[in-house]
Amino acid sequence: MSPQDAEKHQKIQQNVSGYKVYIYKSLSSTNKIAKEVAEKTDEEKIVILAETQTMGRGRLGRQWISPKGGLWLSVILRPQTSPKEALRLTFIMSSAVAKTIKTLFNLETSVKWPNDVLVNGKKISGILTEINTRESLVTFVIVGVGINVNIDLESFPSSLRATVTSLKHELGHKVKQKTLTEMLLQNFEDRYRRLQQGMWSSLLQEWKSLADFLGKEVEVSSFDENLSGEALDVEEDGALIVRLKDGLLKKVVVGDVIVKRRLS
Ligand code: BTN
Repeated sequence: MSPQDAEKHQKIQQNVSGYKVYIYKSLSSTNKIAKEVAEKTDEEKIVILAETQTMGRGRLGRQWISPKGGLWLSVILRPQTSPKEALRLTFIMSSAVAKTIKTLFNLETSVKWPNDVLVNGKKISGILTEINTRESLVTFVIVGVGINVNIDLESFPSSLRATVTSLKHELGHKVKQKTLTEMLLQNFEDRYRRLQQGMWSSLLQEWKSLADFLGKEVEVSSFDENLSGEALDVEEDGALIVRLKDGLLKKVVVGDVIVKRRLS
């Protein structure tokens, strides 16, 4: 990190499960700044955290609403892996978020393909993984995580209020961000280490055990196509397998899932 960047942050927390956490009051997007930092250094395991984001980024070019009270952070990693395999980081971060929320607050958490964490069926967290490559090799990966922590639902547009939630809303009180951040990084690091030891199958298995949309009727929008059927499985490469109404199996690599109901 250049001295210029270092001046702007409010605080550094050294060695949080091996991560160096730079805390800012406000940034455009932690993913954007993390990318700029990663381009300037060879370091990894740096976390860029902002109390608010003015231009938070969601998947597929969407806006991510990031008021004060949320946990908005991005992790810089340099795994020696292919771009395809780097997408596994989204899954292990989702499991880490779900596990952290369950452990700290005993809330019912689940994951939804490809990058959502839900509490009581509503979205509480999203992951945005951005991969930088040179000659088809990964140079760095930014894993961005947003968790709606101490946020009132009124802070979200009314169109979202039926489908999102926050820890404050679920628990009826505020929670400590620092404890949450520390346990999240610890849970993520534990999974990242296992991933590097070749334990992807068991990590995917853990994610699937949290994926209560599997076996349910879903609608999937993928590019210009809308599909409906049963969410059957998520394969080793992270693709979703949907059994269409006519029995055909369809492999989906990019898209959004809406859960309809459990199939009887
Ligand atoms: C999604 O569900 O669409 C992914 C949302 C990811 C949001 C986080 S907040 C921290 C990081 N910085 C960003 O601009 N986006 C990610």
